[in-house]
Amino acid sequence: MVAARITVNGKETPISPAAPHTTVLDFLRERGLTGTKEGCAEGECGACSVLVARPGVKKPTDWVAVNACLVPVAALDGQEVVTSEGLATADASGAPAVLHPVQEEMAVRGGSQCGYCTPGFICSMASEYYRPDRCAHTEPAEPADRADGTGPAGGSEHGPNGFDLHALSGNLCRCTGYRPIRDAAFAVGMPAEDDPLARRREQSPPEPVATAYVRDDGAFLRPGTLADAVRLLRERPGATVVAGSTDWGVEVNIRSRRADCVIAVDRLPELRELHVGSDRIEIGAALTLTEIERRLDGEVPLLAELFPQFASRLIRNSATLGGNLGTGSPIGDSPPVLLALEASLVLTGADGEREVPLGDYFTGYRQSVRRPGELIRAVRIPRPLSPVTAFHKIAKRRFDDISSVAVAFALDIEDGTVRTARIGLGGVAATPIRALATEAALEGGPWTAESVGAAARVLSAEGTPMDDHRASAGYRSAMLGQSLLKLYARTTEAVPS
Ligand code: FES
Ligand code: FES
Repeated sequence: MVAARITVNGKETPISPAAPHTTVLDFLRERGLTGTKEGCAEGECGACSVLVARPGVKKPTDWVAVNACLVPVAALDGQEVVTSEGLATADASGAPAVLHPVQEEMAVRGGSQCGYCTPGFICSMASEYYRPDRCAHTEPAEPADRADGTGPAGGSEHGPNGFDLHALSGNLCRCTGYRPIRDAAFAVGMPAEDDPLARRREQSPPEPVATAYVRDDGAFLRPGTLADAVRLLRERPGATVVAGSTDWGVEVNIRSRRADCVIAVDRLPELRELHVGSDRIEIGAALTLTEIERRLDGEVPLLAELFPQFASRLIRNSATLGGNLGTGSPIGDSPPVLLALEASLVLTGADGEREVPLGDYFTGYRQSVRRPGELIRAVRIPRPLSPVTAFHKIAKRRFDDISSVAVAFALDIEDGTVRTARIGLGGVAATPIRALATEAALEGGPWTAESVGAAARVLSAEGTPMDDHRASAGYRSAMLGQSLLKLYARTTEAVPS
């Protein structure tokens, strides 16, 4: 097996002697690339953002921005990374480097004051700059504030250059203020014909590399096939399985956890398929949320509503459905939505495959029916989809935050009568749950202010919410009921009593 190596700003560099848990951030900084900063080390500030060449949705390669603080450098064996230093170009004569167009706009529009956050913003901005379907003047300007409260306070989230400000939702700035940064984002043009990173998109990204990075202080293994992964998991049942590492990276950095063995499954082809059929949609567990969002392109409206509210673009560029379900967190944002969609999970292991309805999957706090050695291969969503859907995330910030409560609705309302109701809840019990009593209260009844008001009172009593630092139990219960009233108001423009 070839020694693990990574290409940074065009230069191939051996990963050794980094420890298996060393992050891309620390690896880069130890080699002098100190533009990449550490702010939080838990995926919340974006100061560490770098670009990685990944399989593209519209072109062979996308330049994807990721949080370098969360990804072990061994996970990028054989891959290409560009940092803020690599965006500026120097010519062979030794003349000063020419700023990248994104860097230029940030500089001239005053988008950088202390500069600590700037390289991270630059990389996130560059990722959006190179998004192949970003088109000038094709995105309609959005109203300043949408009626459902999800609109931006103070302006459109798409620039006249097609720049989607959600690309920066994972980047925090503490001193410049966001307006000059937005001005810079909305001022960048399109990549020039001879832009090397734009041209790089036309070629395939590096293939995933089977990796066995083994040292005295641990091992990082990337099996090349699903069969190898299943065999490895049987041999090492205590191994930590990671995909985007957005959860495990926090454990490593903040709680100083170390694993004897980490097994990466995010590039297994069998876990990265997406099929849209007439009777169901099957989504590979290791596709990133950004890939699912862009490839489904609104095919599942409830998922389309979820994605912009799930953490940040930087996290969604790495996070997967398999990871969000595999950790079993009661406050993950995808389980309420997938419960409302009546999704099931395809689990695969040494004994073959089995399908488990998501409603039967969680058994306790961070526990599930998944057996040691089993992997989540895919998520299946049955069709037809219910036409009335909504995802309400109640959190302190609009983006890049953890839910206090999350509620997902999928209703079939015909001639004013609720035919079916599926409601998924997060943050109100030890596991994500279905609101079964509320579903029963709604089904067969009229979609009227009176009956919805009664069902909202049932919904307020679902689960066993707790007091914690995010919200009180009483607030969580109140938000459940309000959530149904909000949906009713949206469908009828009337508020029930
Ligand atoms: Fe804050 Fe990585 S250092 S997201
Ligand atoms: Fe200082 Fe952003 S320029 S934190």
